[in-house]
Amino acid sequence: MKTINSSQLLILLAFVIFSGCKKEMKKDLSFNSQNYEIKTFEFEGKEYKVRAFENIVYVKKPIDTVYQCMNIYIPEEYFQDKSIKNYDKESAPIFFPNNVGGYMPAKPISLTQDSQQRGPGDRTKATKMALSKGYVVASPGARGRTNNNSFGVYTGKAPADIVDLKAAVRYLKFNDSIIPGNSRKIISNGTSAGGAMSALLGATGNSPDYEPYLKSLGAAEATDDIYAVSAYCPITNLDHADAAYEWQFNGVNTYMKMGSMGQIDFHQKRTETLDTLTQSQIEVSDQLKMLFPAYVNSLKLRNNQNQLLTLYDNGNGNFKIWVGSYIIASAQDVLNLGEDLSKYEWITLNKGGNIVEKIDFAGYVRYMKRMKTPPAFDALDLSTGENQLFGNDSIDACHFTKYSFEHSTVESFMAPELTIKMMNPIYYIGDPQSTCAKYWRIRHGTLDKDTSLAISVILATKLKNSGINVNLEMPWNVPHSGDYDLRELFEWIESVCKKNGK
Ligand code: DHB
Repeated sequence: MKTINSSQLLILLAFVIFSGCKKEMKKDLSFNSQNYEIKTFEFEGKEYKVRAFENIVYVKKPIDTVYQCMNIYIPEEYFQDKSIKNYDKESAPIFFPNNVGGYMPAKPISLTQDSQQRGPGDRTKATKMALSKGYVVASPGARGRTNNNSFGVYTGKAPADIVDLKAAVRYLKFNDSIIPGNSRKIISNGTSAGGAMSALLGATGNSPDYEPYLKSLGAAEATDDIYAVSAYCPITNLDHADAAYEWQFNGVNTYMKMGSMGQIDFHQKRTETLDTLTQSQIEVSDQLKMLFPAYVNSLKLRNNQNQLLTLYDNGNGNFKIWVGSYIIASAQDVLNLGEDLSKYEWITLNKGGNIVEKIDFAGYVRYMKRMKTPPAFDALDLSTGENQLFGNDSIDACHFTKYSFEHSTVESFMAPELTIKMMNPIYYIGDPQSTCAKYWRIRHGTLDKDTSLAISVILATKLKNSGINVNLEMPWNVPHSGDYDLRELFEWIESVCKKNGK
């Protein structure tokens, strides 16, 4: 019999320990398919049964397990080798709704509790609809701007929330062979700051910028690009959103005050009172408005006729007409459905009254009313939620635009350039180092004044110009909200999921 000497024994021992560790490390993020509860729910008169895998921590080295976790719901049929409509356990797309609002910490959406609901409407409805149609649902939680640990260190500042969502995507891909569903068909959904997160996920797939953050959390070794994006009223492109806001609202000197975003309780209706801008706020508005044309012109966006979209220094130009065309299309849609548009003096119909010929943009803006004071996002006194988002582990709030930093009324710091970049999808669209989602659906209601309409238009146009399939509409008289057209959303999701095979 062959014997082994002591050094061989040592090597063998080291090998056994090492492979045990490797297995242990891998096991950390391996999906445990036994760790579930059966849940039933009713949706549109029918009863559904799912396996609920809740609060699954999706990184090896979490900072906050209350938020860095995910709820995964899987139709029971997929464990019986049955199919639902056209989907089976291999092909079912994964609906990925986040619950982020106000850039606050967000727990995953839970099928059975509504405590995390934000704004009017039921946040579980999209999840229930997805499950009823045979989708797997994975809802990620993420850290946000107010998180801190027991030492008082802030733990959820930018880019924490997008890093967490990416880590959750990686977890799903890493476990693709264990979790029913097709991780090549992940469809993200979110509203407002959650819409911004959805857009960021879509634009920044596999970008090396996020790698060090993902590594330090012990994210699963997998890619993080997603298949499709649904974004309702994304509060995004924050470093240009102040200028965009004043480009739209300059001259409207009263505003419906709704409390700063930091104080908005999403469980309550926003209270509205009418206020007037101060002289210095009007001056700030005038200055910010002036910054917008140079930004738009720098993007070299093109319309469907391949014409360059630009603005003159006074804010007029074909980019403004392009933004207006979405409002016209929206008005036309409701006119076709029989809506009486004659009460809107800013809309011009043709002689027959059946075609919206043009709108007066300034009249439209007066009708919709201003909501925020200038600067709308990077407040000079660091008082907005976005200032808080751009803080760091020891400073609660920072500036993220040159203008507000230079005009700051308080002692302040500027957020790092890379952090600002990592929170803005525009910088990543067309970047060869990131994989962009193939399909996008963006909705921004015509009564939404939380950010300028130009923000969604820039996002959609930049995507379109980069060859991405994008569907942007501005639903008529819809205020800042999401998930209000779920039937249409899922028709769109169904249609894009049919493409590109399984
Ligand atoms: C949200 C709304 C805002 O007005 C804002 O500035 C940021 C986020 C939100 O509803 O998520």
